[in-house]
Amino acid sequence: THCILIGAPMDEGQRRPGCLMGPAAYRVAGLAQTLATLNHSVEDRGDLSPPPVPEAVCANPAVHHLPEMLAWTRALREAMADALPNGLPIVMGGDHALALGTVAGAAVHAHRQKRPLFILWLDAHSDIHTVETTTSGNLHGTPIAYALGLPGFDPFPPFPHPVPGQNICMFGIRSVDPAEHAAMLDIDITVNDMRVLDEQGIVAPLRAFLDRVRAADGMLHVSLDVDFLDPSIAPAVGTTVPGGTTFREAHLVMELLHESGLVTSLDLVELNPFLDERGRTAKLMVDLVGSLMGRKVFDRPTRSF
Ligand code: ARG
Ligand code: MN
Ligand code: MN
Ligand code: MN
Repeated sequence: THCILIGAPMDEGQRRPGCLMGPAAYRVAGLAQTLATLNHSVEDRGDLSPPPVPEAVCANPAVHHLPEMLAWTRALREAMADALPNGLPIVMGGDHALALGTVAGAAVHAHRQKRPLFILWLDAHSDIHTVETTTSGNLHGTPIAYALGLPGFDPFPPFPHPVPGQNICMFGIRSVDPAEHAAMLDIDITVNDMRVLDEQGIVAPLRAFLDRVRAADGMLHVSLDVDFLDPSIAPAVGTTVPGGTTFREAHLVMELLHESGLVTSLDLVELNPFLDERGRTAKLMVDLVGSLMGRKVFDRPTRSF
């Protein structure tokens, strides 16, 4: 696979500075080398630095950094749509607001390919606020609603080709705000919260979703939020929520994704290197990408499950 690294050094989608150091941390932690060791070609397109869109305003006074977020959304939509015809884009964040742009770019590309887009949201949070409903004003809590094409996103451009709820799978969630909960009841979206994963395990719910992607010949955008992982193994994140995915579960998710052969683009988001302990979270994220891209403990002949 030709892997295209895109740096998004931004942290204006939430209030704790530091995620803008993410791309540098992934490079230091050896993301490119890890991919090369797995016999992938790697192209690092460097970091984007879009100038803010001046005088952007919205009705919700809580929302902050709108000019910056509009700029990142546009820049990442274009970078993603440009990269997808040439390989597998891996966007190094940056906070989760970057997915406003990456998912839009993936939607543009999927539409051109006449294939449906699917989204796997690996996260503690549902991120389904709109610009109108967010009470924190942190736009990293909004990309899913944007991808669905929900109203309440002025002054963002309309989402290019909205993704139906049936094509979106939330996985690992354990923190949902009241307005988000209300939205989720209205939409046919797969919610694999921790209750589901505790009861059924990782494998069956993930396979069920991947089977749907395969049956539809879909493209699959995976958005991996550091807080998907338990804070005890991944401390470098501003929004820790207890009860996250274990080291072994997270690697298993990545291995299943690799075996599926379905992943067409990837976000790595919410890493805050300022909060890390000797790079352990950055290294774990890089190792997880390694599993996603084919690293195995023992390369047994493929078995059919
Ligand atoms: N729901 C909360 C909010 O809107 C938390 C969102 C956290 N999102 C994230 N991408 N970490 O502020
Ligand atoms: Mn700023
Ligand atoms: Mn998130
Ligand atoms: Mn999160």
